[in-house]
Amino acid sequence: MPEKSFYATTPIYYVNDAPHIGHAYTSVAGDVLTRWHRQRGETAVYLTGTDEHGTKVERKAAEHDVSPQEWVDRLVEEHWRPVLETLEIANDDFIRTTEARHKRGVQHFWEVLKEKGFVYPAPFEGPYCVGCEEFKVAADLMEGTGEYEGQLVCKVHHKPVEMLSENNWFFRLSDFGDRLLEHYERNPNAVAPTSARNEVVAFIKEGLNDISMSRSSVGWGIPLPWDSDQVVYVWFDALLNYITAIGYGGDEAAEQRFAQTWPADVHLIGKDILRFHAIFWPAMLMAAELPLPKQVFAHGWLLVGGEKMSKSKLTGIAPSDITDDFGVDAFRYYFMSAIHFGSDGSFSWEDMRDRYSAELANGLGNLASRSAAMIGKYFEGRLPEPGAYTNMDLALQDRLATVADSADAHMVKLNFSAGIAAIREFVEEVNGYVTTQEPWKLARDPEQRNRLATVLYTVAESLRAIAVLYAPVMPGICEELWQSLGAAETAGALADQNVRQVADWGVLRPGATITKTPPLFPRLEEDKA
Ligand code: MSP
Repeated sequence: MPEKSFYATTPIYYVNDAPHIGHAYTSVAGDVLTRWHRQRGETAVYLTGTDEHGTKVERKAAEHDVSPQEWVDRLVEEHWRPVLETLEIANDDFIRTTEARHKRGVQHFWEVLKEKGFVYPAPFEGPYCVGCEEFKVAADLMEGTGEYEGQLVCKVHHKPVEMLSENNWFFRLSDFGDRLLEHYERNPNAVAPTSARNEVVAFIKEGLNDISMSRSSVGWGIPLPWDSDQVVYVWFDALLNYITAIGYGGDEAAEQRFAQTWPADVHLIGKDILRFHAIFWPAMLMAAELPLPKQVFAHGWLLVGGEKMSKSKLTGIAPSDITDDFGVDAFRYYFMSAIHFGSDGSFSWEDMRDRYSAELANGLGNLASRSAAMIGKYFEGRLPEPGAYTNMDLALQDRLATVADSADAHMVKLNFSAGIAAIREFVEEVNGYVTTQEPWKLARDPEQRNRLATVLYTVAESLRAIAVLYAPVMPGICEELWQSLGAAETAGALADQNVRQVADWGVLRPGATITKTPPLFPRLEEDKA
């Protein structure tokens, strides 16, 4: 039996609108994480997709006078799949909840839970927020203001909730409170960061009520196998994507794939959807006697004016608004390094511009271009053979080993900003090394030819390592760097380089052709003036 794959997921996105950078944020984080794991030599499965059922999508389609199916097909093809390409996301699969494989799995799952006695019919009455697609309790609501004065509104969307009164089927969530508490006690990292874990534990301790798992007034959904007048409540349909995509409820080959992939190593989510993932989802899995995900990691929000960025509040920024100016690599770098994963962060054009110039253009970009230029000028574009290493050279090699270890430790813990900071410090140190070694001065003295060769070889090898370490974050730029170092000929594909062996010195072959490429991070329009 092959080893279990590292398995990471994003939430599946609602297709009521086009993606904004809040969605892109989760997708990029998952991509950096899975690329990192692949570069540790592991097999990794990265899943993303779209959440296509429910009232929100149904109403949006009606507003546009098209059927829900036409609407979701259009949005997925025109926006949600293309944005993955724009962002260079290397997902292994894309699940849509309208696909047959998903519907089959969802129906099978609920059939199993009904047979086990975890589902029963009962009337439901209470407030529902269509924006959240969630049944609300009093604590989730507040008095509306302005046009909604006198009404109760949802605290997230600031829009009135709707009072529902339906005959539904209920899931026995209340059976699982103790087991969930025990699970989180035994596995303190199963919900991260700690603030999210505390929130989940406190919520469970308040006591869990059974919850409606079906809707009778909604047409756009997956019918219950035993009651075709009802569809599965959209969240209890959507959460199952994490298992239906990897083969749950399919044929024998699919089930085998499932056994090799499940449980998920991490579900990446925004903190707004924590309860669904850290309470409902594990309870559903417990009921079905399936293993629980190893971790649910709740990241913070991208804020605009102190509030969660959102399309419905017209604060959404499309990823292409940023990538058109800065390029996709800088986009990925910025969001992973400027905001601590797990905390909220405000996006600002000014900060983006400052970091782009200081850390990328003047940092890595400058290092790459000046070293290629010097090898071009002093060694006709051929990587020179290093002579004896001095203590300074060896210290840099040692630093690389420390940096690689530290970056690895941070990245696997989803501390992307710290992982990137470690690599960035190394870039700065290599730039500092060039400044102190002054190769341009060495070049003037024929007796220092050997020393010049050693210095430039050291810089090129450092850049080789930087390309490997930064590849999960900035795959496009690092590939350019890799090519310009002539590394592919001696070391093979960049994606195959193991981050844990990156400090093994002497990979680049002397004599390899070093090419000057256009600047990795071109100067920004405004700065050119
Ligand atoms: N369809 C559900 C998820 C079902 S998963 C089984 C959903 N979709 S969503 O499109 O509304 O949100 C998807 C993800 O985008 C969530 O993790 C959410 O936190 C994230 N973000 C949406 N706006 C965001 C910001 N402004 N900032 C950061 N992430 C944000 O919920």
